[in-house]
Amino acid sequence: MLTASLVLSPGHVVAPVRRRLFGSFVEHMGRCVYTGIYEPGHPTADEDGFRGDVLALTRELGVTLVRYPGGNFVSGYRWEDGVGPVADRPVRRELAWHSLETNEVGLDEFVRWARKAGAEVMYAVNLGTRGVAEALDVHEYANHEGGTHLSELRRANGATQPHGIALWCLGNELDGPWQTGHKTAQEYGRLAAETARALRQAEPGLELVACGSSSSTMPTFGAWESTVLELAYDQVDHISCHAYYEVIDGDVDSFLASAVDVDHVVDSVVATADAVGARLKSTKRIGVSFDEWNVWYQKRFHADPRTDWEIAPRIIEDRYDVTDAVVVGNLLISLLRHADRVVAACQAQLVNVIAPIRSEPGGPAWRQTTFHPFALTSRLARGRVLRVEIASPTTRTARFGDVPVVDAVATHDPDTGEVVLFAVNRGRAEPVEVLVSVTPFGDVEVAEAWTLHDADASASNTRDDPDRVVPRPASAEITGGVLRLVAPPVSWSAVRLALRAS
Ligand code: AHR
Repeated sequence: MLTASLVLSPGHVVAPVRRRLFGSFVEHMGRCVYTGIYEPGHPTADEDGFRGDVLALTRELGVTLVRYPGGNFVSGYRWEDGVGPVADRPVRRELAWHSLETNEVGLDEFVRWARKAGAEVMYAVNLGTRGVAEALDVHEYANHEGGTHLSELRRANGATQPHGIALWCLGNELDGPWQTGHKTAQEYGRLAAETARALRQAEPGLELVACGSSSSTMPTFGAWESTVLELAYDQVDHISCHAYYEVIDGDVDSFLASAVDVDHVVDSVVATADAVGARLKSTKRIGVSFDEWNVWYQKRFHADPRTDWEIAPRIIEDRYDVTDAVVVGNLLISLLRHADRVVAACQAQLVNVIAPIRSEPGGPAWRQTTFHPFALTSRLARGRVLRVEIASPTTRTARFGDVPVVDAVATHDPDTGEVVLFAVNRGRAEPVEVLVSVTPFGDVEVAEAWTLHDADASASNTRDDPDRVVPRPASAEITGGVLRLVAPPVSWSAVRLALRAS
């Protein structure tokens, strides 16, 4: 068996655990909204038409923040189509996904759903086909208390209290030629700055996210962030990152090491933002909003992307296996490790569309494999993120070279004394014994320990076998002040240590 040693100490703090790192994303795309979160007539539907089974799973997943309403969808969206009496709402062509949008669910409904889910709303405005005026309008509708045309309209529509949305995305992926209203960095940077300035005139305390690159593989990655921030540095708080991973040409080893790329993306965007700050002689620091991340088998989708103006078509309903779940767990480890600069993160998406939750119209909802590392990380990560020094054997990957087989992060809650270790074994051949001296944390014991692993790394959960893959008790024990976790090949584990009762 291989051995890896980790060093952690309560003093090696990265940052507080930011609860916004456990965000998700609901886009009007495929069946995320319709027959996902919303399905009047479903046996579990509540008085608002929201599926109770999906709501319960969303709460169990531990989602703290939900980005809405897109995604590519938002770049052609008219927010006002989705408010007021449902019978009067127009059906529109939806260009991003070539679907029909009925507008049965809009801003007010979504805010109601998010409240039930216990999650904060992150709202994206359309800077593709629209601009400053429409961004101000939707802000007035959502956040202005009352006494103005649009705030009174909201009140008349039943939302007497303002929605109080604090976090706003200034458009979506406008660097991408596929985006309706695609722009150059110069064009977008100016528009983002103008929109931000206007929104701040309305409500100075908003937190505003400028679009970064849609992927680090874009030819403009880096240059885009630099130009946009040169133009909008003083007006915005954060810049977005998006990243999706999949097995390319059968290269599972590189796929398992995808978190190396997240580390690289965050480090690159932070370096770019700080370089702009230095040029501008600013002491302000820009945060990273990693507001789309996940495993997504895009190559399959791009082979057959079009739907033909259907309502809620089945698009990118990827079924995830154990390997995918280990990668998702590792991506969360990377995001936590960067909690000093990553201020929010949204797994894309929540239900059906590349999602941890699946649902069938009129039928059940279930947890995909990827549900489990997310839910456990959200539940267990508390207090502060600790930097972990990792001495690990390496594994060879075509894409990233030699990478440590074991990756890990830890959290420590000074109030309770609890320590949680999150670790992955990215190797496919052998188990790894992970050793950690826990004496700096006092007299602790293993309170719970979970491993997501299966002898068949391609095993997945389905409607008929929804619990084929679940976390199982991990092999973790403390002897002589050393925690020993046995991490099987292709596994993700979480170990919670608590102070022994005296
Ligand atoms: O999450 C699916 C799509 O991926 C989003 O609509 C878009 O922003 C990204 O390219």
